[in-house]
Amino acid sequence: MTDFTPRVFSGIKPSGGLTLGNYLGAIKRWVDMQGQMESIYCVVDLHAVTVWQDPAALKTGTREIAAGMLASGIDPATSVLFNQSQVHQHAELSWVFNCVARVGWMDRMTQFKDKAGSNAQKVSLGLYAYPSLMAADILLYHATHVPVGEDQKQHVELTRDIAAKFNHDFKTDFFPMTEPVIDGPATRVMNLRDGSKKMSKSGESDMERINMLDDADTIAKKFKKAKTDPAPLPETLEGLKDRPEARNLVDIYAALSDQTSEAVIAEYAGAGWGRFKPALADLAVDKLAPISTEMRRLLDDPAEIDRLLGEGAEKARAIAAPILDRTYDIVGFLRS
Ligand code: TYM
Repeated sequence: MTDFTPRVFSGIKPSGGLTLGNYLGAIKRWVDMQGQMESIYCVVDLHAVTVWQDPAALKTGTREIAAGMLASGIDPATSVLFNQSQVHQHAELSWVFNCVARVGWMDRMTQFKDKAGSNAQKVSLGLYAYPSLMAADILLYHATHVPVGEDQKQHVELTRDIAAKFNHDFKTDFFPMTEPVIDGPATRVMNLRDGSKKMSKSGESDMERINMLDDADTIAKKFKKAKTDPAPLPETLEGLKDRPEARNLVDIYAALSDQTSEAVIAEYAGAGWGRFKPALADLAVDKLAPISTEMRRLLDDPAEIDRLLGEGAEKARAIAAPILDRTYDIVGFLRS
């Protein structure tokens, strides 16, 4: 088996603004890992267009995600930061993977089933093929580690299946077996109004999510109005088993304060919401308001964001191009 240099790849779709789920489930963990391994972070605009995007809003959204990554502490001198469509090799490798992945594998993807719902005949072909593009994003850099939230686990597992089938079919060990990295207390941040649903950029009510561009008053108001049950916080995490809204707020507190959820429960055992919610609101404002202020500052100079993304794309292409060339050679595409 080939030894692969440890390398991180991860991405976020610019199909709406950034949420606290994206921050705690992905970006904050990327910042914590930065410097430990070579890291590549991508605004995955090719993924966004699997559902209709207004062209002007797509450009703005791409800059907003990039600004969120930068404002949270992703350093473009240490990590590679770019938007996917500027590196054409992603689309090319995904075509090869479309021919490796099986239709039956795609049929098992729960996110596709959730998104397509009863409308599966009317959604784009791209939405169906999306996990194969995601595998290409990762394997184009021979990434070994992919830090994501819980909802992306199945897609990273599919990436391993695609790598294994490619290696098997072409009798090679060219692609690595990538590991999903899903750890910490907030790998699945839930909706603030309904603890059975994931916090997402597309939910109907703005009160159900924290947007990374929300101002301090809005953040505090949303946490104070978050749905909970009347009982106080229990002595142990076990006591939160059937209380999804309460569990979510404890996990968010833990992630924002770099503690375990057990430690938060130990500190707040027996506390009512009148004490816990204001403490959470203060903590969230303390941690998030500086990020949103910095995002706004960065977004005032879109040309600078575009320049940074262009520089990042150049670095990404330098890694991706030889890997795609070698893939084409393995597949048997004639290179003149
Ligand atoms: P996307 O854009 O939906 O989400 C970006 C990242 O944020 C995480 N996330 C959450 N984590 C915890 N709680 C939540 N409520 C929450 N909502 C979102 C996601 O798990 C993800 O890590 N297909 C991917 C983007 C992608 C990608 C890749 C990721 C494309 N290519 C290659 C890794 C590697 C997506 O749609 O993420």
